[in-house]
Amino acid sequence: MKLAPALLAVFLLVVSPVSRASSRSKRTHGEQVFNTSGCRQCHTIGNSGGTRGPNLSAIGKTLTVAAIRKQIVYGGKSMPPFGTILDKSDLDALVAYLRSLDGK
Ligand code: HEC
Repeated sequence: MKLAPALLAVFLLVVSPVSRASSRSKRTHGEQVFNTSGCRQCHTIGNSGGTRGPNLSAIGKTLTVAAIRKQIVYGGKSMPPFGTILDKSDLDALVAYLRSLDGK
């Protein structure tokens, strides 16, 4: 099967730039959700935001995708739950955005 490596190469060439671009637009979407859902009123990312909750500028280094999602869906001691407020696509994008934050 000599064709397999060639097909794989073509597949990778075609697919990887697309999936990179779409995960970038997902993070941009997530950033918008963060800014428009009230998160920034309590949390700082970069150099703006509130201080009632912890600074999330490097949250991707300390929390897993599952932990970030759980915190958003169920809230916490002093954080309201957002599970019924955000739809699935907004929630997925928000989690992807936060997970990408590493303080840089
Ligand atoms: C009313 C203030 C408030 C709002 C609004 C709020 N949070 Fe929080 N958040 C907190 C507080 C306080 C904590 C600290 C832990 C706790 O009380 O649950 C926290 C914790 C977190 C954590 C875990 C941080 C860590 O270091 O463990 C994440 C992630 C998070 N919030 C994301 C969000 C996102 C995303 C939104 C918007 C959808 C949001 N928060 C909205 C107050 C808030």
